[in-house]
Amino acid sequence: TKVWNEHLAEYYTPKNFNFWYFFGSLAMLVLVIQIVSGIFLTMHYKPDTAFAFASVEYIMRDVPGGWFIRYMHSVGATMFFIVVYLHMFRGLIYGSFKGPRELVWLIGMAIYLALMAEAFMGYLLPWGQMSFWGAQVIINLFNTIPYIGDVVSTTIRGDFVISDPTLNRFFAFHVVAVPLVLVGLVFVHIVALHVVGSNNPDGVEIKKNKDEKGVPLDGIPFHPYFTVKDIMGVVVFLIVFFA
Ligand code: HEM
Repeated sequence: TKVWNEHLAEYYTPKNFNFWYFFGSLAMLVLVIQIVSGIFLTMHYKPDTAFAFASVEYIMRDVPGGWFIRYMHSVGATMFFIVVYLHMFRGLIYGSFKGPRELVWLIGMAIYLALMAEAFMGYLLPWGQMSFWGAQVIINLFNTIPYIGDVVSTTIRGDFVISDPTLNRFFAFHVVAVPLVLVGLVFVHIVALHVVGSNNPDGVEIKKNKDEKGVPLDGIPFHPYFTVKDIMGVVVFLIVFFA
């Protein structure tokens, strides 16, 4: 009850959010879509160079609804970046990266790095030509680090060339390690935001003007006002996503 009140029913937000403020909740929605579709993909995928490609073909052709789950996951990955780029662009145009929200922005940058790592490692898993050579190019970038570049890229691959150990460790990172980091970072992103409160298109700091009970005069409770408004964003997003 305390969490519900402090973060939803009695959590005050500016009245003047526009469509740019949909993308945070949409990023959370896409994170859930990726985790759920990823769990179902993992039930049939095989992280072994001898079976990986064929297991993806099997998912696409033989597993009932497998094509749907896989496309949810791959379209979801693309949507994740579109949504997060719009979310970051909002932060830039409204100056949300500035104090007192600098920590929210810094955690956001860590999320962005983790998200890129997650997507990169996921792309190797189908073990196709593009997966293999894409990984070849990106891992070779680490070779350019002076003195230790060679050791770093060999450590990432787990071998001198991209091979079975590479596929196996990318699978481990993609399925367990990085998603855990992402979920943890998103949690602290929201905690950090709720300490200072949201910015808004007009830059009104709602915490500066409160009534005698400490309720911001320029704010409205997140629930029900923005839970309902965010559902509107979700509906529009899902139409685009499923199309
Ligand atoms: C998985 C990715 C992410 C999720 C789930 C997420 C979630 C959220 C949510 C729910 C909000 C509050 C609603 C809103 O303002 O839209 C928010 C606010 C914010 N996020 Fe993110 N975020 C993500 C990534 C990022 C990234 C990559 C950055 C920047 C590098 C970032 C920077 C911010 C900032 C500055 C705010 C406060 C905006 C304001 O009050 O004007 N976020 N985020």
